[in-house]
Amino acid sequence: MDEQESDPELDKIEVTRRTVIETGTTALLLTALPHAALAAGSIEDKEPPPPPVTIGLRINGQLHSLTLDPRTTVLDALREHLELTGSKKGCDHGQCGACTVLIEGRRVNSCLTLAVMHDGQSITTIEGLADGETLHPVQTAFVEHDGFQCGYCTSGQICSAIGMLAESRQGMPSYVTQDLMRAAADLTDVEIRERMSGNICRCAAYPNIVAAIKQVAGMPT
Ligand code: FES
Ligand code: FES
Repeated sequence: MDEQESDPELDKIEVTRRTVIETGTTALLLTALPHAALAAGSIEDKEPPPPPVTIGLRINGQLHSLTLDPRTTVLDALREHLELTGSKKGCDHGQCGACTVLIEGRRVNSCLTLAVMHDGQSITTIEGLADGETLHPVQTAFVEHDGFQCGYCTSGQICSAIGMLAESRQGMPSYVTQDLMRAAADLTDVEIRERMSGNICRCAAYPNIVAAIKQVAGMPT
């Protein structure tokens, strides 16, 4: 190659590196380099996916046998394999709580845990809370207190509230609990806000969510 001629693939990298220096954006470099390197044959193709596994999950009281990629999260198993789309995917990174479900009675961010880890366990989602036409008391309280606006966070808020109320009844303290000697802390506004802090509401319906939970907890609202 003539010294004056340039390799178009390397030119792409140079432009991208300059952009990185000017903007401080590493993502551009990270996305551009592998493509160039792959084109040059310097990176091996990806490993083949692992073989599927078969597991059994009891979901909302019904046993399901699922054959899936072992990397599948509980959230994707629910939404993509069982069409239970009530549990929402907000961030897929454990930051928003929209995917909260109850596993063996405890609240869990379903986007952060693999389905294969729960083989044989019971999962309750928002779809499994009502008893026929009768809503769960937490669902009723959310309706009565307008504990939602767009509703995207609501299934996670309700499942989280149910798990939180059980934790409180069992005497689990929170970061803001003052008296650790008491059997169970009063669910004041500050206790509820702390205990529900893993569930984000972009509509900011927080006062109404707190009021709904206080009603179920038997606290004055
Ligand atoms: S989708 Fe799971 S925490 Fe946001
Ligand atoms: S009701 Fe809209 S995000 Fe909570």
